[in-house]
Amino acid sequence: MNNKVALITGITGQDGAYLSEYLIKKGYTVHGIKRRSSLFNTDRIDHLYQDPHDEKRNMVLHYGDMTDSMNLTRIIGDVQPDEIYNLAAMSHVKVSFDTPEYTANADGIGTLRLLEAVRLLNLTDKTRIYQASTSELYGMVQEIPQRETTPFYPRSPYAVAKLYAYWITVNYREAYGMHASNGILFNHESPLRGETFVTRKVTRAAARILLGLQKKVYMGNISSKRDWGHAKDYIKAMYLILQQDTPDDYVISTGVTTTIRDFIKMTFNEAGVTVEFKGENEQEEGFIAHINEELFSKAVGEEHLDAFKKRLGESIVGIDPAYYRPTEVDILIGDNTKARTKLGWEPTYDLKGLCHDMITHDIELMKKEEYLRNGGYRILNYFE
Ligand code: NAP
Ligand code: GDD
Repeated sequence: MNNKVALITGITGQDGAYLSEYLIKKGYTVHGIKRRSSLFNTDRIDHLYQDPHDEKRNMVLHYGDMTDSMNLTRIIGDVQPDEIYNLAAMSHVKVSFDTPEYTANADGIGTLRLLEAVRLLNLTDKTRIYQASTSELYGMVQEIPQRETTPFYPRSPYAVAKLYAYWITVNYREAYGMHASNGILFNHESPLRGETFVTRKVTRAAARILLGLQKKVYMGNISSKRDWGHAKDYIKAMYLILQQDTPDDYVISTGVTTTIRDFIKMTFNEAGVTVEFKGENEQEEGFIAHINEELFSKAVGEEHLDAFKKRLGESIVGIDPAYYRPTEVDILIGDNTKARTKLGWEPTYDLKGLCHDMITHDIELMKKEEYLRNGGYRILNYFE
């Protein structure tokens, strides 16, 4: 146990939720910055919330925004954190093409605002900073696998904004001796993953298709490859990076890459359903080729089997070019040697374990009555 104080920007996001829980268990007092929203946006951390009247609480939320430097400076001055985890970002690559200026402001300049606040508040010796950098920096990859020394070639407004954030973090480290580090994290997923990222879109849609609530799902480029890990493993790397005596930059990845197409197959396989793809490009479709009845009954429920069997041979996956990106990142695969050797970090989930965790969660979620009553599906924005 310790008396450390952490400040997490982006606490309401996937990583923020897992990291807060992890740090609280370690005895930290966790402060988080959340945006004002017209609806509740704290679903992922509600289980950690404590009454503000509780004097011993170890979780405190502050309203704030990465685009507001006065607000950030005030919060950091009040909280006097030992560690800042800068996880806040407009994190959707496709959406960044629609909101490039905002993305640059929040994801790029937002990081500068934090670093500069720490400097101006004379906290450079006290406060350590973790910057949520990304494998998207490698973009059009210059080397396979990608490691800390691989040159960057960003391919989206999101990645370009994160490139600025990466280098301004390095610059503040070198210029002012700050303990500021970049975690170059490859894609990491979980049942808490945002609904419009590809793995969660697939596991949610698969759950609904298996339960007979949806006929088909439309995808973008299913030939691209990603190195997917579990968010629960990746937040531990963030923590370890800030516990090192000297600041540095680390690739965090599994070292395995898989196409979106294979992730779709793997997801349905978890429920005993074999999906076969036929056709090319926009004509490509995924068909139900085989059903393992025992596995289906175990994963989805025997009561849904007869209805699903009637769909054998039908197409359940289609392609819609609306989901294509103006510039794509075709392949990501990370070399995590430095993290393994220097941090002693390694992933505990493989892709099958991750996929199982997500589809099991989403089948249960979609079964919940309120989802069915509400038409079942939160609207996914068309272009995401
Ligand atoms: P996420 O689920 O999209 O969460 C992003 C968080 O940032 C949310 O809490 C969001 O608040 C907040 N946020 C967005 N814009 C903000 C602003 N202007 N001011 C304050 N807060 C703002 O992302 P994640 O998957 O947890 O990822 C965490 C960080 O790691 C992000 O910086 C992301 O770019 C980076 N990263 C993620 C991955 C990955 O595979 N997950 C890989 C590499 C790097 P709301 O809840 O109000 O939207
Ligand atoms: N979102 C989405 N929706 N992606 C699709 C779809 C679809 O319908 N169909 C195919 N894809 C492809 C995308 O074109 C991309 O090649 C891949 O699936 C992964 O897309 P996302 O899950 O949206 O993630 P990302 O790789 O673009 O970005 C995520 O990982 C980065 C780390 O590499 C985000 O979490 C970023 O914030 C993070 O930095």
